[in-house]
Amino acid sequence: TPQRMKKVCCIGAGYVGGPTSAVMATKNPDVSVTVVDYNKDRIEAWKTNELPIYEPDLLDVVQHARDPVAKRIPNLFFSTDVEGAIAEADIILLSVNTPTKSMGHGAGQASELCHLESAVRRIGEVATSDKIIVEKSTVPCKAAETVRDILNATAKPGLNFEILSNPEFLAEGTAVRNLLHPDRILIGSLNTPRGLAAARSLADLYASWVDRSRIITINLYSSELAKLAANALLAQRISSVNALSAMCESLGADIDEVSHCVGLDQRIGPKMLKASVGFGGSCFRKDILSLAYIAESLHLPQVADYWRSIVGINEYQKERFTRRIVKCLYSSLSSKRLAVLGFAYKKDTGDTRETSAITVVNNLINEGANVRVYDPLVEEDRVWEEVLASSDRRETVKQRLSVWPSAYEACADADAVIILTEWDEFSNKISGPGDARGRGGDRTKRVLDWSRVAGLMQKPMYVFDGRNVLDAAPLEKMGFRVESIGKGVV
Ligand code: UDX
Ligand code: UDX
Ligand code: ADP
Repeated sequence: TPQRMKKVCCIGAGYVGGPTSAVMATKNPDVSVTVVDYNKDRIEAWKTNELPIYEPDLLDVVQHARDPVAKRIPNLFFSTDVEGAIAEADIILLSVNTPTKSMGHGAGQASELCHLESAVRRIGEVATSDKIIVEKSTVPCKAAETVRDILNATAKPGLNFEILSNPEFLAEGTAVRNLLHPDRILIGSLNTPRGLAAARSLADLYASWVDRSRIITINLYSSELAKLAANALLAQRISSVNALSAMCESLGADIDEVSHCVGLDQRIGPKMLKASVGFGGSCFRKDILSLAYIAESLHLPQVADYWRSIVGINEYQKERFTRRIVKCLYSSLSSKRLAVLGFAYKKDTGDTRETSAITVVNNLINEGANVRVYDPLVEEDRVWEEVLASSDRRETVKQRLSVWPSAYEACADADAVIILTEWDEFSNKISGPGDARGRGGDRTKRVLDWSRVAGLMQKPMYVFDGRNVLDAAPLEKMGFRVESIGKGVV
């Protein structure tokens, strides 16, 4: 019978490691969870009430385990002492970043495993007792063999390491909800007595709050692939809908109506069918390219092309959106003022990784526009860093980009307003302030007064809705010309 785990160490205090550890600690008061990271600033921030990442309800969960009241003993710790935490732990969660490789073989496609490798080397060097090592970060298939190989080469003889795959499916902005109520928990292990025992130990930690029927123990390699497959299929739905949105615009159809009708088919279902200016985030693009790269290494070029076409449509959607703006604004953006509302890759997060806004803003600047960005949560520096990093005309960016603390300032004298993130604040479909929405706290409870925007803008007043958050009719009554994704003019 497996022993109940008492000490968990999570390496990597990022979007995955932080929230996952916080929920695990909150739900297992008898288990101590230490989150380590070599980034000192990040660790210090996790100890304060200004957490390094923004997630609704996350602070409550962290505080519950980190600085509990009444009889509870703190069981969630944050530390830069990576070695110390590894040495003490029974179970180690690997939650380090695995971005797309930026150089060398497989650059731009394969996953960069150097952070994972260095964390595993550290485990090998430090460990003096048996450990269960859990792949939490999304990894390429067969990464477990890499982990095993490094441990075999670096660890003291006689120690036993079991490697499990336990991919995380949380989405940003809803991380706490996803962690508390997961659709499923996957635990992949080797089909050996030790492997199965390790899987049971990890399952016991989750069983404190997740129904056993949702905890699925499977083959290690199925589990690794299932994570990539889930993200590829989700992104595929969005690219399929976005491809249809291009047809809708020419046909005079409405993509929101098409998606709604299609989603009523129970075999398809309604979620992840919202047309947009393109998906972003740290996972979809990276994971599809990783999957395609793996397919290619397995000599399956047709399979690789299939997956890559999903990313291809996503790039096309961003370009198409920019072209539409140029065309509506009389085929020139030279010296025009464009207000960009929203820069995060989705609402309720301050994350900008792979956001479509990076491409669109750069395209607009390259067309000669002055771009004025506002986002409720993204910090000004992040906007600058992202746009500059992907521009080959940095001086032009410096002259033509500006970031504003409110939507009204961004919209002053603008020729057009361009919505790139579906923040509730921008929508005129949601009722006024003071209602129960605004999961993101006060910052996101504001509602844009579109009549005030109308008073600020140049004429004609164009609104390009890259997220279909607007009900066009009332805005058109105010004199706006509303251009939405996938809505044709008959
Ligand atoms: C399909 C649609 O389901 C139906 O809604 C539409 O009106 C007509 O087209 P049909 O072609 O009769 O219906 O059968 P369906 O069950 O959808 O299967 C189509 C093909 O896909 C079959 O060859 C089936 O074997 C195959 N299939 C289906 C798979 O290979 N995998 C699956 O998971 C499901
Ligand atoms: C995704 C997966 O959902 C999650 O399970 C996985 O663990 C990590 O990757 P995330 O990237 O945080 O999560 O957010 P998600 O809500 O999936 O959105 C990804 C992108 O797709 C966003 O840019 C979003 O705006 C866009 N999107 C989403 C659409 O354009 N249309 C949709 O219908 C849904
Ligand atoms: P994710 O979205 O996958 O959680 P993040 O980039 O948000 O990725 O977080 C990963 C964290 O892992 C970063 O804070 C980084 O500093 C940390 N990290 C990477 N490699 C190591 C390592 N070898 N030891 C400790 N921490 C690491």
